[in-house]
Amino acid sequence: MNEYLKSQLVQAAQEFGTPLYVYNARTIEEQYNKLKESFAGLRYRIFYASKALTNISILRLIHSLGAGIDCSSINELKMALHAGCSPSNILYTSNGISFDEISEAVALGAHVNIDSLSNLKKFGEKFKSNYPVGIRLRPNILAGGNLKISTGHDKSKFGIPVEQINEVVQIAKMYDLQITCLHIHTGSEIKDVEIFIKGLQVLFELIPQFPNLQVIDLGGGFKVPYKPEEEGTPMHELGKALVKAFQEVDTTYGKQFEVWFEPGKFMVSEAGYFLTEVNVIKETKHVTFVGVNSGFNHLIRPMFYDAYHGIVNLSNPNGDPHKYTVVGNICETDTFATDRALPEVKEGDLLAFLNAGAYGFEMSSNFNSRYKPAEVLILKDQLHLIRKRDTWEDLIKQQIQVIE
Ligand code: LLP
Repeated sequence: MNEYLKSQLVQAAQEFGTPLYVYNARTIEEQYNKLKESFAGLRYRIFYASKALTNISILRLIHSLGAGIDCSSINELKMALHAGCSPSNILYTSNGISFDEISEAVALGAHVNIDSLSNLKKFGEKFKSNYPVGIRLRPNILAGGNLKISTGHDKSKFGIPVEQINEVVQIAKMYDLQITCLHIHTGSEIKDVEIFIKGLQVLFELIPQFPNLQVIDLGGGFKVPYKPEEEGTPMHELGKALVKAFQEVDTTYGKQFEVWFEPGKFMVSEAGYFLTEVNVIKETKHVTFVGVNSGFNHLIRPMFYDAYHGIVNLSNPNGDPHKYTVVGNICETDTFATDRALPEVKEGDLLAFLNAGAYGFEMSSNFNSRYKPAEVLILKDQLHLIRKRDTWEDLIKQQIQVIE
């Protein structure tokens, strides 16, 4: 992290308090440009997977760069519309949702991918050939950073298992459906190019069965490095492999297919910093605990996925390293990092958790009746508050007191 960014983070903490999420617009733009460069040889579209971070200023920023928005709930879809995205730039990839929601997404004019045979039948009955539709398939490929974020394997709830493709085709024929897109999302944090290509091949084999097909949607899941020694998905290599694969398939079928992507982490993970302040240093026989003024209610990834987040001590970046276990203030086991070497930490120090842009604020809660953090966007060197910290009012406004 460069000195200027460090000073901006310190300034953000001073101005808006902690715990605080801060996002750097420049990094988001850089990530988007990497996608554009890597996929330049393809006919492609990017739909940012907004589930990673839905703040409307982030949606507007990403949309202004040229991306569409991918949604996983009807409210995400409405949020994308609210942020100024037109329906033709919105993709709704369903997962176990009610048919009412699918109907609403159609009424709002979004692209829709359907993930169950029962909803596909209902779709056929209601819309017949009047509305083009995509199919979310389960390719039966095990991939992703850990089992919780692997979605394409043969025991996963996601998508229509590819072995049920005959049933999809039957339903399509029965209702004269226009199936224009085949979709997979194999998992999150997929590093290997081969996995994407393997998924692609699964879809390519199905092409002859779908005469209206125009789009192959590969979902998201590009890996970003979380640990210092880690590497992300080699995007240029992936781009090259995809260009080759699509050239072949376009020639075979005499048709030009589009490829769609739904990156979440790749767009926003590295742009985000989660700032906390050290409440307590607790020396014990075996461990020195650093207790910060936040917990898994604000950043759940370490506890939920055993995820690693880099930590920078902004108050003492060049101090001598010591081993610490960094813990939260939630009243149960709440560990951010175990035995982590950090420049000497003192009470009152400001710690920044790295890679906090994706699934950080978005998965936060009010557990232990604590306020959700504020969010700040660094845009053209200026700090902008893009979400206020919760207040006492926010905590109690939905509650109804019935006991006198
Ligand atoms: N498309 C679909 C259909 C998805 O289900 C997902 C993520 C994405 C795109 C974006 O995947 P990404 O590019 O962000 O890997 N909360 C977890 C990640 C769960 C991802 C769920 N689906 C985490 O914090 O690691």
